[in-house]
Amino acid sequence: MDNRERFLNARRIIFVACGTSWHASLIGEYLIEDFCRIPVEVEYASEFRYRNPVIYPDDIVIAVSQSGETADTLAAIELAKQNGAFVYGICNVIGSSIARATDSGTYIHVGPEIGVASTKAFTGQVTVLTMLALMIARVKGTIDQECSRKIAKHLLDLPAVLEEVLRLNDRIADFSKIFTYAHNFIYLGRGYNYPTALEGALKLKEISYIHAEAYAAGELKHGTIALITDHVPVIAIATQKHIFAKTISNIREVKARGAYVVLLVTEDTAVDEGIADVIIRIPKEDDKFTVFPIAVVLQLIAYYASVQKGLDVDQPRNLAKSVTVE
Ligand code: G6P
Repeated sequence: MDNRERFLNARRIIFVACGTSWHASLIGEYLIEDFCRIPVEVEYASEFRYRNPVIYPDDIVIAVSQSGETADTLAAIELAKQNGAFVYGICNVIGSSIARATDSGTYIHVGPEIGVASTKAFTGQVTVLTMLALMIARVKGTIDQECSRKIAKHLLDLPAVLEEVLRLNDRIADFSKIFTYAHNFIYLGRGYNYPTALEGALKLKEISYIHAEAYAAGELKHGTIALITDHVPVIAIATQKHIFAKTISNIREVKARGAYVVLLVTEDTAVDEGIADVIIRIPKEDDKFTVFPIAVVLQLIAYYASVQKGLDVDQPRNLAKSVTVE
């Protein structure tokens, strides 16, 4: 069976990954379920390898890893292979152990990542996952030609969109200065931007050592809202038109409890200026594609929080670029 047939006949896709690659995989889940109507699961490689998971021979296991050397992801691949699944790798480092251990795969080709905290690998992984979802959907006939063309155009337009986002640099630097007072941050997102919120919180933890957690905005009321005070800044992403009003009502609740709110919306969104302390407007995009500009804004927020604290952004304490041991 060739790769195309395997993807066409897949009973299920299981992602195995760690850290940032796990967040990119979550977006992969949303994309593949949305475009291709194939059920998807996303597993922490470190859990998957030790929990006796059900793996069928007609499952496809996709291992996502920037370095291609992460020990837990490699062990998860071995387990998948022993159970007869087809294993596909999405790596950055050419010739890495994961690239060699998988049956087939794609390189993201973003060039070497120098800083310990993943940045361009995340957007590179999501780009490849979008292309993969698009290719499967085309072959399966689960999206029409017009939709497929639109997605391809969005991908081609991305460099220009990201350049526009980089123009926000000075503004982000400016308001990020105030964050040195905060010991805890809450990130809120929904849909495609829930994983992006998780990734934004991870970036802040990794390079500024400020505790941050991300939640699906709808979960806020189930406990997390108890954490909100005027010392807990909230970074809220509200890019989904169909649930925009719901997200805004979540934001009103945190604002009413004194939180300093940074709101990220698309430029075509009308919002009452009083709802947030800072409103960042990113280029108008379909919700799934806002993941890219939002990820860059969140990376810049973490970067400036770290710079402001006088920390080494590239070499944060206690972290290694690739975790080749358990
Ligand atoms: C380490 C790095 C993280 C990275 C994770 C997974 O913990 O500090 O930034 O996301 O490993 O790495 P991988 O190379 O498998 O994507």
